[in-house]
Amino acid sequence: MTDYEAMGRALELALRGTGKVSPNPRVGCVIVRDGRIVAEGWHDHYGGLHAEMHALQSAREQLDGATLVVTLEPCTHYGKQPPCTDAIIATKRRDDGTLDPERGIRRVVVGMRDPNPTAGGGVEQLRQAGIEVVVGVRERECQWLNRFFVKHTTSGLPYVIGKAAISLDGCIATAQGQSKWISGDESRRRAHILRAEVDAVLVGRGTVECDDPHLGPRMVRGRMPRRIVLDTHLSLPQTMRVLSDEHRMRTIVCTSLENLPSHRADQLRRNGVTVVGVPTGDDGLLSIPALLRMLGKDFAITSVLVEGGGRVLARCLAEGVLDELHAFVAPIVLGSGVRIFEGFAVGALDHAPRWRFHAIGRSGDDAHVVLLPQQSSQGER
Ligand SMILES: NC(=O)c1ccc[n+]([C@@H]2O[C@H](COP(=O)([O-])OP(=O)(O)OC[C@H]3O[C@@H](n4cnc5c(N)ncnc54)[C@H](OP(=O)(O)O)[C@@H]3O)[C@@H](O)[C@H]2O)c1
Repeated sequence: MTDYEAMGRALELALRGTGKVSPNPRVGCVIVRDGRIVAEGWHDHYGGLHAEMHALQSAREQLDGATLVVTLEPCTHYGKQPPCTDAIIATKRRDDGTLDPERGIRRVVVGMRDPNPTAGGGVEQLRQAGIEVVVGVRERECQWLNRFFVKHTTSGLPYVIGKAAISLDGCIATAQGQSKWISGDESRRRAHILRAEVDAVLVGRGTVECDDPHLGPRMVRGRMPRRIVLDTHLSLPQTMRVLSDEHRMRTIVCTSLENLPSHRADQLRRNGVTVVGVPTGDDGLLSIPALLRMLGKDFAITSVLVEGGGRVLARCLAEGVLDELHAFVAPIVLGSGVRIFEGFAVGALDHAPRWRFHAIGRSGDDAHVVLLPQQSSQGER
């Protein structure tokens, strides 16, 4: 088995932590001996054992001479778990505590370095213990897998994904606000997969009023993400699903700082909904950059799926906060409907935000287009 193949399995295992490990990264690990995998592990839930520890603990066979393959550099710090480097090095210790080069894990293959400065340095520690370390096998895939973790760790901000079902002429709803359903079942299922992957789904007041959405991943398995609603004046009726259903504890309503001390805010809080104040800009709208800083810092939210509507997506585009965009393009024409970036305009072509196609594929009868901003430095699939 090659390092490339073993890393492929580790990447598969890492996906098992989807929706459960945030704000930690998704990590998978395999131990290879005599050309075959003898143990597997993955980081399963926040605060739980790290992938390497799982694999080491489940390695029933002798580890002497084995290679440990892991998607992320093993950590060196005491967090919720002891350092993984210690556990790997411990496989080489004789009874008297000295290191035996022939014993235990002899090679470690790492997909990507840990961007967290307090957890890094694992590669150097392992090398000092006489272990051969290879770094960067399938690195782009590992970076892509943990793009939420990398962004949050390095900037304190969540990774922001925009998503919309659009007509051929770029509308997300008819002029009357009808949007159910522009896209087909397969596109909605894929949108639900995205909901299951992210920490939070964000929508504007207009979308809640028009669609009364649930915002959970109902068509796939997964937990309910935090639901973030932008409602500057706290004008949404309490009967809306996000404010009244059994998941209302997962809802964060964002309002202006002026509206924070209000009877309405108290009422929402009494009902279990979180209400937060966000500064407003000159246009009277809630500041998206300030909101993202708060979500990253106070709520440890590493990823946000912005589902609309058009005005919210337009603000996100104008502020340059979108890290990724998913457009489900349906073969339908709506004419003068609500635009995907409603109200967004550029004075000159030179000022138009440019994207590049990351993936283009069919999604039932629709096209599924994934785009990244042209200046993006994120890892790729
Ligand atoms: N096809 C799709 O994928 C899809 C997805 C979602 C929605 N939709 C459709 O989109 C339509 C709603 O879109 P919309 O543009 O009318 O409304 P929207 O974008 O959902 O909500 C806009 C409202 O959010 C509030 N808001 C607060 N801070 C904001 C900020 N920084 N930026 C933007 N808005 C902010 C404002 O209302 P306040 O001032 O009252 O706070 C604003 O009017 C509906 O017809 C819905 O069906 C389609």
